[in-house]
Amino acid sequence: MNVLLLGSGGREHALAWKIAASPLLTKLYASPGNPGIGRLADLVKLDIADHSAVAAFCQEKKIDLVVVGPEGPLVAGIADDLRAWGIRVFGPSKAAARLEGSKGFTKDLCAKFNIPTAAYGRFGDLASAKAYVEKTGAPIVIKADGLAAGKGVTIAMTLEEALAALEACFEGAFGAAGAEVVVEEYLTGEEASFFCLCDGATALPFSTAQDHKRVGDGDTGPNTGGMGAYSPAPVMTAEMTERTMREIIEPTMRGMANLGAPFAGILFAGLMITDQGPKLIEYNTRFGDPECQVLMMRLKDDLLVLLNAAVDGQLAHMSARWSDKAALTVVMAARGYPGTPEKGSVIRGLDEAAGEGAEIFHAGTAINGGALVANGGRVLNVTATGATVGEAQRRAYAALDRIDWPQGFCRRDIGWRAVEREKAGA
Ligand code: AMP
Ligand code: GLY
Repeated sequence: MNVLLLGSGGREHALAWKIAASPLLTKLYASPGNPGIGRLADLVKLDIADHSAVAAFCQEKKIDLVVVGPEGPLVAGIADDLRAWGIRVFGPSKAAARLEGSKGFTKDLCAKFNIPTAAYGRFGDLASAKAYVEKTGAPIVIKADGLAAGKGVTIAMTLEEALAALEACFEGAFGAAGAEVVVEEYLTGEEASFFCLCDGATALPFSTAQDHKRVGDGDTGPNTGGMGAYSPAPVMTAEMTERTMREIIEPTMRGMANLGAPFAGILFAGLMITDQGPKLIEYNTRFGDPECQVLMMRLKDDLLVLLNAAVDGQLAHMSARWSDKAALTVVMAARGYPGTPEKGSVIRGLDEAAGEGAEIFHAGTAINGGALVANGGRVLNVTATGATVGEAQRRAYAALDRIDWPQGFCRRDIGWRAVEREKAGA
């Protein structure tokens, strides 16, 4: 098969790594890709927003499958447009990608199909949103409705913060994404990321992970796209997984089919495991970044076979097998992240650092004058497996410490919750 992978981050490098290992693969193309992906694929310059240009490339190169990494093109309808040209695509339609593209859409779906989630209100103007917040009180959560690159959520511990967040949203801090706002109940518990591979009718559980969103050790400092992750998430016991499937995922699949927008692709449920059980925080309609990196390290089966089954509506006959090992990834970011990262510093020693069960995925790198340089906020994902999360953590940090990049930084405590659990013998 000829495959075109769209995207340029660590998630896409991990997908490329796994796709490249498939005996079904003839040739892999990636656009725009990154230097790490460039070792596994031909990198092509395409304007991904120009769906006809992508389709023309697919026809010219006889692409059998397009795999879409990020949410932006999905929400913009790339899957529908390519399918209209007869091209097979892994990724949901525009209508199904509303599960990520509109938080209000997902909340209304939950209300209609009785899916457990935080109590909420949807507002299109400041006055009514303020009135709701004043009535409910803090802590409370304010969310821009649309895609805001992970920055549209404010956890307001006081009424003043909540009102300021509402004002910022309606003043255009998130552009069109903030023209509508979801205000919701503050949930407490442990968070987990739960993945399902979906073909429109069947949802196949696709393992679990835990992300570390805050930039600093001990979960302090501003939110980021994710500073590290590990898989599996110990909080997702067999019982919790069964409840999540029954109470959240299956009603979502039925609900979306019922609305004429069956979901096919990867469904990523952000869950809060509360005293009353799992509640949906949000859906993403793509793999998590960096969660994908740890999932790919543990997936024993051929990813291309599974993606094909999802595209062809054949998941009812499939299973996915996972290594018993834990996987853990540590993000190395450029100084300044999650604000404005410094670009251009030289990174050395990656080939020497990998090995011994460690893989280094490129997230934001470029080649400049023959040297590998930082070219984004999150730059490298140093990933390892181990018999325990503790062992995977030791291996990942040992590899990371062999990398020669003084301008990079990372959290030193990725996996701490699971490591503490392991130490306590739980
Ligand atoms: P999101 O961008 O929707 O993933 O939200 C970012 C983070 O905000 C989530 O990972 C949670 O840690 C937190 N969050 C979102 N909604 C809630 C909620 N209703 N209660 C508590 N925390 C939340
Ligand atoms: N790591 C969180 C995300 O991909 O949305």
